[in-house]
Amino acid sequence: MKSTRRNLLLTAMAIWCAVISGPVWPQTYPAKPITLVVPFAAGGPTDIVARTLGVAMSKSLGQTVVIENKLGAGGTIAVNYVAKAAPEGYTLLIHHNGMATATALYRKLPYNPMTDFEYIGQVVDVPMTLLGRKDLPPKSMLELITYVKANAKSINLANAGLGAVSHLCGMLFQKALGVELTTVPYQGTAPALNALLGGQVDLLCDQTTQTMSHIKAGTVKLYGVTTQERIKVLPDSPSLAEAGMKGFEVKVWHGIYAPKGTPRAAIDKVNTALRAALKDPAVIVRMGELAADVVPESKQTPEALRSWLQSEIDKWGPVIRAAGVYAD
Ligand code: MLT
Repeated sequence: MKSTRRNLLLTAMAIWCAVISGPVWPQTYPAKPITLVVPFAAGGPTDIVARTLGVAMSKSLGQTVVIENKLGAGGTIAVNYVAKAAPEGYTLLIHHNGMATATALYRKLPYNPMTDFEYIGQVVDVPMTLLGRKDLPPKSMLELITYVKANAKSINLANAGLGAVSHLCGMLFQKALGVELTTVPYQGTAPALNALLGGQVDLLCDQTTQTMSHIKAGTVKLYGVTTQERIKVLPDSPSLAEAGMKGFEVKVWHGIYAPKGTPRAAIDKVNTALRAALKDPAVIVRMGELAADVVPESKQTPEALRSWLQSEIDKWGPVIRAAGVYAD
């Protein structure tokens, strides 16, 4: 009788321990390739960051990081897909400012960026460049401003859809000049840049991660950069703020996310791989070529990404609502 009671007590204790410690996470994680979902077209800025990181992270994870491009609705289709994926550490998301701006652009969003995700860490900050097709007449930022104001009805501006940073930048540019241009959305700035190269569109605001090689090759016209100050790698290019657009600043930040409920052990493992990747000499050199700044270590944490995302939602919400731009 005594031993039956003791067995019952031991069983109850075992159940209690299992309940408070949560499901047992396999020590072998990751036991198969990890998918990193990119919300925009292959070959574009987000994809370039993801692939550079993926190769480096694979080294410490001991598994391949497979890049999957899920396109559409300014990136929100991919975000929703990852929000609903199994929280097992095998489906992750890389995204930029769109994770914050979509909350104001879309009145009915099928996910909540502050409650449906686990946060892994921030990655790199990237400036944007304002580009024109090669044969666009203006030769400088100041000439462009006059030209756009005089020809607003016939100028078109490409972007990657509502929620994309190219859209945000283009929206601020039009607002600063008090013009309304025809916007042409693509499923990423990779196809948008192709359209600019092909002369089908006139202007595009896009990240240096994709535009540097075209600027160097002279296949596009560079008018300005979207950071407050000029950037080291393009010292002759004025900032839009400097060219008279007071306060104009769009810096593209990137974060890595997992579905809510992904075990902390998996988050920590991916975070360790992210930190190692951001110290990898090959990544540092590549990011330098692309004018992308690896974020300081203090930003490479789940907590820092979460609070940064909240601050970006708070920052852009009023700007977007004031502009009255909605996707739905
Ligand atoms: C892309 O990867 O195509 C871009 O990040 C899209 C954008 O946000 O402009």
